[in-house]
Amino acid sequence: MEKIVVEGGVSLKGEIFISGAKNAALPLMAASLLTDQPLCLHHVPALSDVSRMEALLAQHGVDVQKNAAEKTLTLQASIITNTVAPYDIVSKMRACILVLGPLLARCGEAKVSLPGGCAIGIRPLNVHIESLRSLGAEIDIEGGYICAKVSSQGLRGAHIAMPLVTVNGTENVMMAAVLAKGSTIIKNAAKEPEVSDLAHCLNAMGAKISGIGTDTLVIDGVEQLGGTTHAIIPDRIEAATYAVASAITHGDIVLRDVVFDDLFTFWNHLSKAGALIEAMPSAHNPAFSDVRVRMPGEIQGVDMMTEPYPGFPTDIQAQFMALMTLCNGAAMITETIFENRLMHVPELCRMCADITVHKTSTLVRGVKELVGSHVMATDLRASVSLILAGLAAKGTTTVQRIYHIDRGYERVEEKLRQCGAVMERVPTEA
Ligand code: EPU
Repeated sequence: MEKIVVEGGVSLKGEIFISGAKNAALPLMAASLLTDQPLCLHHVPALSDVSRMEALLAQHGVDVQKNAAEKTLTLQASIITNTVAPYDIVSKMRACILVLGPLLARCGEAKVSLPGGCAIGIRPLNVHIESLRSLGAEIDIEGGYICAKVSSQGLRGAHIAMPLVTVNGTENVMMAAVLAKGSTIIKNAAKEPEVSDLAHCLNAMGAKISGIGTDTLVIDGVEQLGGTTHAIIPDRIEAATYAVASAITHGDIVLRDVVFDDLFTFWNHLSKAGALIEAMPSAHNPAFSDVRVRMPGEIQGVDMMTEPYPGFPTDIQAQFMALMTLCNGAAMITETIFENRLMHVPELCRMCADITVHKTSTLVRGVKELVGSHVMATDLRASVSLILAGLAAKGTTTVQRIYHIDRGYERVEEKLRQCGAVMERVPTEA
């Protein structure tokens, strides 16, 4: 095991190129199961979650060709040799559930392990299961597995009103519905940019999905899909994380290649907290922006509540809380998506933050300084919030169990070090 050791107190300055989005890459990779033709993905981030999805797809029979230097991945599911997603892989990454819809649509059957426990919440899969049943799948839970099969009539289009907004649930059902007979309407669909990225790629493969980016998706089933080449969208959560790194250290960082509008609500909150945010056209791609983030004065307390897109993302709650620990005044931060996503609070308090928790709300009273400490990462976003706090703290912060961070942040120390951060990764025994 490894830990990251951060020396705080350096004002970060420089530029950071934003990687492809983890939460877009994973469903896009699962979409390769829908066709026997190659799906070539560009801008693929080098993350342990991506490697896990590669391993899962390979054991389903997908040919996985990786070009790490070019950040491309070519996936071809000429023949699916196995429709079982086993517990030992699924239990390590919940997003493995994303193979359920594609396997069912392509092969007429799938057996996918239930993922088991998760640090941030119970995370049931009832909406995935009920929605796939609406498309005609027969689903039982047996021995810890979701055992799904399609009746002789095959999957058929249906009107589905999702009882809550679920990102992977929308993606799973959309991937099943593209090959169903007839039309499917998904109401209360997730509008996250990653869902739209998947829908655009599926359309390029021959699917007929309209209403992309809205809460009503209309999917006209087609006989088959073909291959395509698709560039994964930039990771908005990574961009926001490094924006907080700049703000919390009173730095000056330019984030390269960002979809500015995907973070609308976050920029709003960061700007109310006192940050100066300037977006300029990217030199690489006219669809992207370069965003300069500075925090010249005091950090102001700003209340925040997480919500589905376009609200404030739950995946930036921990990072924003780290920023608020040093605010002038106080901030009420409420987590509404996951019932247990406040595990970073006691760790931040070990660094002398002043945070009171009431159920899923927190009152963060700003302190004059954070003090470096030994802290423990509990999940991906919690771990990066502790690094952010460590960058601003007085003295040395040691973040244990850093393997969480490699799930979602590509070369995190390298990117921060090139802006002046003093940090290194060392074996836990050292
Ligand atoms: N939910 C149910 N039943 C379901 C599905 C979801 O009750 O059948 C509940 C969940 O328990 C949760 C809420 O609905 O309370 C929303 O969960 P959602 O299904 O949207 O989450 P997800 O699709 O499993 C994705 C991201 C998460 C991100 C959430 C919310 C991926 C691979 N994961 O998870 O990313 O927090 O959407 O935006 O796309 C992360 O990157 O750190 C991360 C956790």
